[in-house]
Amino acid sequence: MSPRNALRTTTFRLALAYLAIFVASSGLVLAFIYWATSGAIDRESEQIIEAELTGLREQYRQWGIVGIVRVIEERSKGERADEMRYLVAGPRFERITGNLTGWPAELRERRGLVEFPLTVRVGDRAEVRATMAMTFDLPNGFHLLVGRDMKERSEFRQRVIGAIAWSLALMLAFGLAGGYWVSRHLMRRVDAINRTSGDIRAGDLKQRVPVAGSGDEFDQLARNLNAMLDQIERLMAGMRQVTANVAHDMRTPLNRLRSRLELTLIEKPDEARYRETIQATIDEADRLIATFNAMLSIAEAEAGSKAEAMERTELPPLVDQVAELYEPLAEEKGLVLTVAHAGVAVAHVDRHLLSQAVANLLDNAIKYTPAPGRVTVRTEAGPQGAVVTVADSGPGIPADQREAVLGRFVRLEQSRSTPGNGLGLSLVQAVATTHGAELALTDNAPGLCVTLRFPRVPEARGNGK
Ligand SMILES: Nc1ncnc2c1ncn2[C@@H]1O[C@H](COP(=O)(O)OP(=O)(O)OP(=O)(O)O)[C@@H](O)[C@H]1O
Ligand SMILES: [Mg+2]
Repeated sequence: MSPRNALRTTTFRLALAYLAIFVASSGLVLAFIYWATSGAIDRESEQIIEAELTGLREQYRQWGIVGIVRVIEERSKGERADEMRYLVAGPRFERITGNLTGWPAELRERRGLVEFPLTVRVGDRAEVRATMAMTFDLPNGFHLLVGRDMKERSEFRQRVIGAIAWSLALMLAFGLAGGYWVSRHLMRRVDAINRTSGDIRAGDLKQRVPVAGSGDEFDQLARNLNAMLDQIERLMAGMRQVTANVAHDMRTPLNRLRSRLELTLIEKPDEARYRETIQATIDEADRLIATFNAMLSIAEAEAGSKAEAMERTELPPLVDQVAELYEPLAEEKGLVLTVAHAGVAVAHVDRHLLSQAVANLLDNAIKYTPAPGRVTVRTEAGPQGAVVTVADSGPGIPADQREAVLGRFVRLEQSRSTPGNGLGLSLVQAVATTHGAELALTDNAPGLCVTLRFPRVPEARGNGK
């Protein structure tokens, strides 16, 4: 993935948005600290100046101008001389004493607390310092100025501004780098998924999305995608198998049909022989049609029943009807067919599809049970829902084959001698699935027992439906 793509991801944009909010709020906090602290220094200076002025006024009251001049001379040389500014000036602002060279021009008219730039000598350099000062007019035209050098405040301000600039710059740098890193990291995971889907689209169905093992949402996504791919692969394999089976199962009877016709044609013309061949051909064609019909029924059942075809149905009459059709067949084979109903089982079914499923089960039971034997069909209004059972006393299906026989065109070795396509149970399975019913093949000791358990239907309402 190119670095430019990482900058375009949603993650990176989100990181940028968070960064902006974070930087702005940090900036606000720092600005507040700056303002509050620098204000505190201002107030402190103001208090110091006021205290000095009050002291000096007291001196003046006691000793007059001479007292003030003496005190200012002393203080101008005292320990706070480089921090404090003092000046006593005459009526025309001429300097009398103090540590200022002259009365600052901007303070001639203004009284009270004033802030102004003052040029001071530091060693042999001249420096401009912000100075806060208060002036006071003494009774006989003299002027008094007390000020404080605000160097401390300026230094503090500079330090704070520097700190703010640094922290904002660092925040930005770390934020951008972090956002970029996270975005690249996530993009790598997304890229892996994209690469896999690309490979799969190119025809490699075996590819799977790598799972990092961290259990995060990407892992969950990868696992879900892989499960979906497994499912698709299974279905595709099933489809391929079915297509191959269909081709195979159609080719054998068609070949048989064709060679029979060909043989008859080569032989001496004989009407009786022709009739016999044509009859055999019609039978073969019927079987082929039956196979196609079975396949169509399965496809239909698998496509799901239309909602309007599903009806709340009492199962005993429906099962009776189907069983009646198979009664002669069972009798002819020397089997006893019994139908029993426990309560009135009710289910929400497509009558046509369910009849077909029961017919297929009866067909199997009669076909695979040798005489003498018994076939039993039962319906039961169970507490969990309707149950339909078809059981026989035949050879049954080995437990390890019970899943396989539900597949299309699957027939057990022992049944090769009997006619059939291996589609009957596939249809039953498809019908069960569309009805949300559970299909179970169990041992009838001896024989096979097939159970269809339907979901419970809500109580009938007034219209009987
Ligand atoms: N009642 C049963 N007793 C013993 N084996 C059975 C029984 N029902 C099904 N089988 C076995 O399961 C296989 C699959 O059954 P299925 O109904 O799907 O196909 P079929 O009966 O062979 O052909 P078709 O139903 O398409 O005519 C059968 O070939 C048979 O081997
Ligand atoms: Mg069958």
